[in-house]
Amino acid sequence: DEAKTGVKGLVDSGITSIPSIFINPPEVLETLKPSRYTGAEIPTIDLTGVNIPGHREKIVDQIKSAASTVGFFQVINHGVPLEVFDHAIAAVGAFHEQPGEVKAPLYKRGVEGVSLKSNQDLFHSKAAYWRDTLMVQFDPKPADPKEIPEVCRKQVLEYHRQTLPVAELLLGLLSEGLGLSTGRLKELTLIGGQTFVGNYYPYCPQPDLTIGFRSHTDAGVLTLLIQDDMGGLQVKYKEGWVDLKPVPGAIVINIGDLLQIISNEEYKSINHRVLAQSSPEPRISIATFYNPGAVEDVYGPLPELTSPEKPAIYREFTFKDYLTKFFTKEIDSTSQPNHF
Ligand code: SIN
Ligand code: FE2
Repeated sequence: DEAKTGVKGLVDSGITSIPSIFINPPEVLETLKPSRYTGAEIPTIDLTGVNIPGHREKIVDQIKSAASTVGFFQVINHGVPLEVFDHAIAAVGAFHEQPGEVKAPLYKRGVEGVSLKSNQDLFHSKAAYWRDTLMVQFDPKPADPKEIPEVCRKQVLEYHRQTLPVAELLLGLLSEGLGLSTGRLKELTLIGGQTFVGNYYPYCPQPDLTIGFRSHTDAGVLTLLIQDDMGGLQVKYKEGWVDLKPVPGAIVINIGDLLQIISNEEYKSINHRVLAQSSPEPRISIATFYNPGAVEDVYGPLPELTSPEKPAIYREFTFKDYLTKFFTKEIDSTSQPNHF
């Protein structure tokens, strides 16, 4: 069943040119050429001493500054043992490198439990993308651990267990950066929606004609991402695209749409994309999306952050409505942040 072999299956079949469904429109391909603009800083922030008064304020300032400009930063010395990352990346690779027939039963439309996706948004996009994705739901309805393929089960669970406290720490620091109490953002969003995605970007024979993953913003509150050393993630800055260079052991953090909205645009949810891999080695990344668990709750700019001088930029809405709009609109590489 061809539809169930994924992009990895296509590559393994030995193709030398990509099927036409993967060819992106000219307005996207044009932007793949090296950008003239390379000046944006995506800072690497050292979390050493984050619980020591004096240090903490400096770290909060750095995080606030990154979150309110480029919307992306990397953190090091976050406390997670680096072998947890190495093991998780290797396990996600091992999962995707299994024979097609082993993975086939995991292809599903929905996001419940554990699922394998190749071009999940094809109905809303103009072209297919050169990657496969393993999704594991953690909250609010966690997948049964037995559903997680054995080849990566232990590593996925351990990765999630170890990085959740980092997400909570960062949400606290971001909260302080807005002048709110440490717990305010957490209690507001509960970060009760947690989705693990293990991405596999195989070698692409024609990387100038397609893309690993289209330009998009993340819908939720916060995204944590780790990657191997291949590179390919780019962040939109002004009219250009800036490479987010892999830093060994770092976690990449970015602000999602909901946090942009709650913060009344103090923090920015910025478009990003991934180039198709041109090297023979695959690129592997793991993103965890932290979203509100209570999708029926109403969100909007926090009253503390609005004033007559800075009125609310967004109206209130439920996260459920937001997601519906987010996943059903036509999306392409030129789309701007998903303003509601
Ligand atoms: C994503 O933004 O969905 C994936 C980013 C990455 O693979 O680096
Ligand atoms: Fe993303």
